Amino acid sequence: MSLLTGMLQLLPPETAHNVTIKLTKYGSPLLSKGFQDQSLHTNVKGLSFSNPLGIAAGFDKNAELIDPLLKIGFGFVECGTVTPKPQYGNAKPRIFRLKKDNAIINKLGFNNKGEKRFVKNLMSAKRTGVVGSNIGPNKDTKNFIDDYLKIYKKISVSCDYVTINVSSPNTETLRELQKKEYLEVLLRDISQIRNEATNRKPIMLKIDPDNTNDHYSMILNLVNKYNIDGIIATNTSLSRPEILRDFNKKRDGGLSGTPIKDLSDKVLKFLYQETNQELILIGVGGVGCASDVYNKIKLGASLVQMYTSLTYGGPQLINKILIDLVKLIKDDGFANISEAVGVNNK
Ligand SMILES: Cc1cc2nc3c(=O)[nH]c(=O)nc-3n(C[C@H](O)[C@H](O)[C@H](O)COP(=O)(O)O)c2cc1C
Repeated sequence: MSLLTGMLQLLPPETAHNVTIKLTKYGSPLLSKGFQDQSLHTNVKGLSFSNPLGIAAGFDKNAELIDPLLKIGFGFVECGTVTPKPQYGNAKPRIFRLKKDNAIINKLGFNNKGEKRFVKNLMSAKRTGVVGSNIGPNKDTKNFIDDYLKIYKKISVSCDYVTINVSSPNTETLRELQKKEYLEVLLRDISQIRNEATNRKPIMLKIDPDNTNDHYSMILNLVNKYNIDGIIATNTSLSRPEILRDFNKKRDGGLSGTPIKDLSDKVLKFLYQETNQELILIGVGGVGCASDVYNKIKLGASLVQMYTSLTYGGPQLINKILIDLVKLIKDDGFANISEAVGVNNK
């Protein structure tokens, strides 16, 4: 951990996040460049990634850090969650560190500056890598599904893929959208808009790690039926594993970081076993080092994302992960990361 990352840890978590955003945005010329290696290049759904490691949704909610995040080494950036109208989110404090567990609990509730600002930021970024937009509904909307459709139409033209987030635990009743009757309508209507567009953008569905395999099978059936391009597994968890030691484990909200790694991996493993090769899987949850990334890839993820460990390890963690990942690939005799997808889960 660098001195700066250590100092940020002394601030309350949301203040530290806001300072990080400002430092990343305005200190961008000072940031060192990310590690590049041909063995990490990968093509997924017609998109070219310099490496398979992306920053997960929630870090850059307003799409204001796209270029610096790509510069420091991320292979792709998922911005958002963005909602049609700006919204404050839940009352503060709403982010809690569980330092002893390398974890966070958050109950932010989709705080963001709204779709108009988001699109403006997307359009002004250089976007030298892949950029996804993660979308959600406003808390006070009359109809959640209408919000997704509205925002999908506005946003999909300015980014490379769109993620439908139906798995945040911090907007009341949002996870209900993962029930068959709602999910079917949402996926049917959004895929229709995608299919009618001249420039077809991949759609990903982001799911939670707190469900049963029967439930994930139902989701897979709908995803296949409406030709959704991929699944992101997983969002934060409402569970509180026994292993948690930090006092803040009692907080309400979604748990992320090391303690959800096994939970997310279990979902990923199941999805890959049940799915065809057409469906893209992005693994996220508890990634803190190269072997965590590699493990998700070997379980079937074509791409991987991280968030929580970055807040503890700082930006230098990205290059360390990428350099170590190249070693792991080479040790296994692969020339390229894509050869390792699913090898431990056939
Ligand atoms: C502070 C915080 C805010 C988040 N906000 C969002 C969000 O807006 N949308 C979303 O889909 N996921 C959000 N997430 C979940 C992450 O994208 C990711 O799925 C989860 O944290 C697991 O990855 P990790 O263990 O590497 O953090 C958030 C996570 C954290 C810690």
